Amino acid sequence: MDLSQIVEEIVAAMRDADDRGTVANYIPELAGIDPAQFGIAIVMADGRMIAGGDADTGFSIQSISKVFALTLALGKVGDQLWERVGREPSGNAFNSIVQLEQEKGVPRNPFINAGAIVVADVNLGGHQPRVAIGEMLRFIRYLAEDDGIAINEAVAASETATGFRNIALANYMRAFGTVRHAADLVLGTYIHQCAIEMSCRQLALAGRYLMLDGMHPAGGRVIPPARARRINALMLTCGHYDASGDFAFRVGIPGKSGVGGGILAIVPGRASIAAWSPGLNANGNSQLGTRALEELARRTGWSVFSPTEGDA
Ligand code: DON
Repeated sequence: MDLSQIVEEIVAAMRDADDRGTVANYIPELAGIDPAQFGIAIVMADGRMIAGGDADTGFSIQSISKVFALTLALGKVGDQLWERVGREPSGNAFNSIVQLEQEKGVPRNPFINAGAIVVADVNLGGHQPRVAIGEMLRFIRYLAEDDGIAINEAVAASETATGFRNIALANYMRAFGTVRHAADLVLGTYIHQCAIEMSCRQLALAGRYLMLDGMHPAGGRVIPPARARRINALMLTCGHYDASGDFAFRVGIPGKSGVGGGILAIVPGRASIAAWSPGLNANGNSQLGTRALEELARRTGWSVFSPTEGDA
């Protein structure tokens, strides 16, 4: 298997693709992004990096930040987190409100917006948002070994001005006590973590600890092995919202998407992959990113359900 050639062929196929999906427009600052872009980066367990297309272009990681935020929150409160947020697929849109009332303010999982807002509330921990945001940024820079990673303030401002659904979710959960800080403080934290900008190369590097059972490739442990496995399990079952089943069916790899068009996908023990193309499908997941990962998994045999490597 020549991975560089597979990546080259996937990049060429995505360059020519007609149906690229629709760029997210509910966050005005994201609406103007050119849908013609596609990038992919793969870091192997041995440290090799194979990248193609627009792998060095920064994009808004948006909901992919929920993986890093969850990792931090579990470090702070451990299993107590599961008293305030569930771990079941939602079967609903990422920003759905209806389920919250039925389930008494306890969101289904930490990757839908409501769940991520609870996680942001935990990470806030009585501090000012800038403290929690600073901690998140330092954590991601440490994971990727790249101090150049930063927040796109224009994206954060754009979402602050228009994120009315999230304000509703935060206030609603505050009524149940699952959110404990004022909505503007929690959302200040949440919106800025979503506005972190990274390239495919940087994102794939940041995901290595989930490929390596919780270890940092430069030495030391980021999280215990059991926690890395659980985060991967949540990515597989809940990482693509109401399309998580379809992503598992087509790709078979734990993955987390964001409305910026990025997807972080983890092949335990083998690879940390970031794919990006800004056009989204009807469920708010990258249209070409998903297609590219489907093709990659098919050609490498990297589905976590596959006993062998190679074409299948
Ligand atoms: O809260 C929001 O709506 C965005 N900051 C993040 C949503 C998102 O990325 C959903 N992903 N596919």
